Amino acid sequence: MEQILEVKYQKKPAYDIVFAQDFEQLPEKLESFQLQNKKIAIFTDSNVGRLHAESLSQILSKLSKQVCIFTFPAGEHNKTLETVKEAYKFLIEHHFDRNDLLVAYGGGVVGDLCGYTAATYLRGVSFIQIPTTLLSQVDSSIGGKTGVDFEGYKNMVGAFYMPKLVYMNLSLLETLPDREFHSGMAEVLKYGFIKDVNFFEWLLSNLYEIHEKDPDVLTEMIVSCCKIKKQVVEKDPLEKGERALLNFGHTLGHAIEKFKNFELLHGECVALGIVCAAHISMQKNYISSDEFYEIRDMLVPFDLPISITELDITEIIKLSKSDKKMEEGKIKFILLKKIGSAFIDETVTENEMQLALEEINYSYEDDKE
Ligand code: GLY
Repeated sequence: MEQILEVKYQKKPAYDIVFAQDFEQLPEKLESFQLQNKKIAIFTDSNVGRLHAESLSQILSKLSKQVCIFTFPAGEHNKTLETVKEAYKFLIEHHFDRNDLLVAYGGGVVGDLCGYTAATYLRGVSFIQIPTTLLSQVDSSIGGKTGVDFEGYKNMVGAFYMPKLVYMNLSLLETLPDREFHSGMAEVLKYGFIKDVNFFEWLLSNLYEIHEKDPDVLTEMIVSCCKIKKQVVEKDPLEKGERALLNFGHTLGHAIEKFKNFELLHGECVALGIVCAAHISMQKNYISSDEFYEIRDMLVPFDLPISITELDITEIIKLSKSDKKMEEGKIKFILLKKIGSAFIDETVTENEMQLALEEINYSYEDDKE
């Protein structure tokens, strides 16, 4: 059954999020775009492109005068201005003008890169999001954050630029590698931790079904996440306040991601960052040690890491200071008062970060000996 959420931007209806199990409804959803006289560029990466781009191109070819596919090599390493430059060249060579449409067809990297290209090519062309990974479905395709990494610093260059539609074909999750699926679960769990204890409990009681990728349970889970995200980005679209709560686990998570040279997936680093943020919340007596272990141990059944070896803690702390979550020289940390309630804290000290990083810096194998 198809479901729709309407997202407002600055209080006006801006775009729909469509949850479907196939692409049947896509032509109807694009009717108002009047694509007959427009060109479409599908942006995708080498993984998704290989499996799925041709069939999407066939569907879109029935609606538009020309469809072309811009494919770039998969991976966060390629979310750079160099790839954006390739994209500009592609669009210029294919004579794209301001009326044409870009389609982000892939995970978070594709969405961010396509969105940023759309925001800047000819000072802005329309784009839609067709997210194919759990992480992009529950988080990055919604709310208009677009951008690229710069010199290894995450999302340092970007723009807030809204898509005209987010269309999710949830059946694509069937071909998503397990590791990617689990990485997306870090962002799913995040919503429970920061905003909704009932959702957290629902996740606990549906652990088995989520693991088995039961389509009804996954749809309910993804819709619930999108409802929370919609609520937050409608209130604070440009991250002046509450939207920053969505960065729970991301401050040290991003630093670990850069330190490990993007060898770990984003969600895996967020999971480690969540353990650290929960540990700091415990150090500051906002949550009890029982709550800390409950949060940490909830990541395990989803195959997310709660420890890592060979962290250079001094370097990670240094890197976290160059993350863009700094404001007036202070790191904006997201901490928990309890499960389901997060807040912004600017008083976290280097020593607290150090203790939290020490907590995750061990080998699970050592533990078993
Ligand atoms: N991924 C966090 C946000 O959209 O604000």
